[in-house]
Amino acid sequence: MNTHYFDYAAASPMSPAVMAAMQPYFSDKFYNPSALYLAAQEVKQAIHDSRALVARHLGAKPSEVIFTAGGTEANNLAINGVLSQFPGKSVLTSSIEHDSVLVTAALYNHTVAPVNSEGLIDTQELERLINDDTVLISVMYVNNEIGTIQPLARIAKIVSLVRIDRTKRGIDTPLYLHTDACQAPNYLQVLVHTLGVDMMTLNGGKIYGPKQSGVLYLKTGVQLRPEITGGGQERNMRSGTENVPAIVGFATALDETQMSREAETKRLRKLQQQLFIGLAEKLPTAQINGNKKYRVPNNIHLTIPGSDNERLMMALDEKGLMVATGSACSASSDEPSHVLQAIGLSDEQARSSLRMTLGRQSDPVAIAALLDGLTSIL
Ligand SMILES: Cc1ncc(COP(=O)(O)O)c(C=O)c1O
Repeated sequence: MNTHYFDYAAASPMSPAVMAAMQPYFSDKFYNPSALYLAAQEVKQAIHDSRALVARHLGAKPSEVIFTAGGTEANNLAINGVLSQFPGKSVLTSSIEHDSVLVTAALYNHTVAPVNSEGLIDTQELERLINDDTVLISVMYVNNEIGTIQPLARIAKIVSLVRIDRTKRGIDTPLYLHTDACQAPNYLQVLVHTLGVDMMTLNGGKIYGPKQSGVLYLKTGVQLRPEITGGGQERNMRSGTENVPAIVGFATALDETQMSREAETKRLRKLQQQLFIGLAEKLPTAQINGNKKYRVPNNIHLTIPGSDNERLMMALDEKGLMVATGSACSASSDEPSHVLQAIGLSDEQARSSLRMTLGRQSDPVAIAALLDGLTSIL
């Protein structure tokens, strides 16, 4: 049976170039980069080169790149790293953040800014929710369930005006802007100055790199309290002997995906359209969730009234079609998705919803197979 994968937002297969780049660091070049002999210094240089490559794609300085073990860790570091220094102060996030942001933010005074029914943050409401106790705002760049792209530059503008106002009033509480951009680099630029962010999370597992690899961009001058202390690696921000294959793999993956970003966006837009058009024809009751314009080209999120998404997912799986009922980024899938609740879907509608995310191996044949599978089951 031919299988077709439609869950790239959960995991992407490692690219051959990434695997080849990583391979020597498992075997021949296994040395601890902190050792002083020449062979180890070469490994240290590989980390250095990887950091420089990542920094180039972010428009950042190499010293602003902290390698982490994935997106969850980077999000935790950003939130705990700021909030633990300001007891009693608060963090403001959107209602559709990944759990690694929401659950961590909930450890502190946490204010939640709503999104509209299309999954876009209401920036006026966000502005209204900022007060003198807010030290951190965390808004994701691309949502992992419905694929919506948030207006980060507009939010950064609001943040800069709040800072000016605080300075005028003699308030010395800082205000930082963090974004979880785990789902962005395959299709969007991740230039930190254009986005206007102080911190940004990236995740190797979503960009055809290794799982448990990631980055936190940390703007010079932003103070964080580290979560993992010890040997002082990563400029004291993340101690522990470096996972060199993961670091090299992450940098190679980010480079490759940023270089192919425009062509892949064009290619997937066509496939997304093919699916939207096919759905309108063959399944006219299906509703598409999430704004259609401010959306990454690989995401199709549907509510099919009257269907049970788990049964539908299993029936599709029997036909070799792998889709998601929600976000596989959370270990428990029993609860209706908080993202779908936030855009106003009832529990019943959420349980009739499917996420399909495309990627490098998706092609028109796969889309046709998915449309056939959906129509024959329903
Ligand atoms: C937007 C977003 N943030 C954070 C994460 C967490 O990444 P990881 O589970 O690889 O740590 C994911 C996916 O799992 C995600 O999609």
